[in-house]
Amino acid sequence: MSAVATSLQTDAAPQRFSVRPFDAPLGAEVIGLDLSQPLNDSDFKRIHQAHLDHGLLVFRDQQITPQEQIAFSRRFGELQIHVLKQFLLAGHPEIFIISNVVEDGKPLGLADAGKFWHSDLSYKELPSLGSMLRAIELPSEGGDTLFASQQLAYETLPEHLKKAIEGRRAAHSYTARYDDEVFAGVQRPKLTPAQLAEVKSVVHPVVRTHPETGRKGLFVNENFTTHILDIPADESRQILSELFAHSARPEFIYRHTWQPHDMLFWDNRALIHLAAGCPQHLRRHMHRTTIQGDAPF
Ligand code: SIN
Repeated sequence: MSAVATSLQTDAAPQRFSVRPFDAPLGAEVIGLDLSQPLNDSDFKRIHQAHLDHGLLVFRDQQITPQEQIAFSRRFGELQIHVLKQFLLAGHPEIFIISNVVEDGKPLGLADAGKFWHSDLSYKELPSLGSMLRAIELPSEGGDTLFASQQLAYETLPEHLKKAIEGRRAAHSYTARYDDEVFAGVQRPKLTPAQLAEVKSVVHPVVRTHPETGRKGLFVNENFTTHILDIPADESRQILSELFAHSARPEFIYRHTWQPHDMLFWDNRALIHLAAGCPQHLRRHMHRTTIQGDAPF
């Protein structure tokens, strides 16, 4: 099992905070923790364990700077820099901007991120351990994010599907649905040859074992998974469509309605997520950091 990389802050004062699980298949909120302050080792361990136990943590009321978001994210591992460099925060490339705000005719961030169910960066050899998404500006209506437990999905999979995917591997590609990702009638920016070289297709097991908890979960998603290897194409299409339908069943889902200054931290090794979208005229602006994980096994 892999250990999370932590630079210890043992001299920091302990903080009083509570972790309250949601009445949902996953997720918990963390109340009273101030992430602008360094966490001491024992507070960090509590957060780390809560993240493993609940899959998603909602840190309330985090009025923190980009540097503070980056510093907290780094306690869990190396940060990944998104291939769409035009949407990285100036001076802080570790922050990927998800935003529908356009200023002087220029989009400030990626407007349609998360329109299909996915696990962040599953198209990389080393997909993401987890992502932190912080609300900077929220719409008055809509803008929810949905999360589905892929461990519950695997555990409740019909026997014929479990058998069909046993020992199988699937290909993931960043470009799989890139051209379907149209926002307000506008296509995503065309990828340059250098960007395409950064996101070559990769292969991962269809079922992955969580490197820290040992729990098994599905690891395919409708955004990036293109096909299952070593079986006929029509069979692969059929199995994937059954897996995608099963993986987002309502009983595996927690739907997050954002509150001002929420910062979410989810486990991409255990969950998939989806951005529900909001009316186009309402501004939604978020900062995401993405922590690198292990090669799935
Ligand atoms: C994402 O897929 O990381 C974005 C989710 C969101 O904007 O709600």
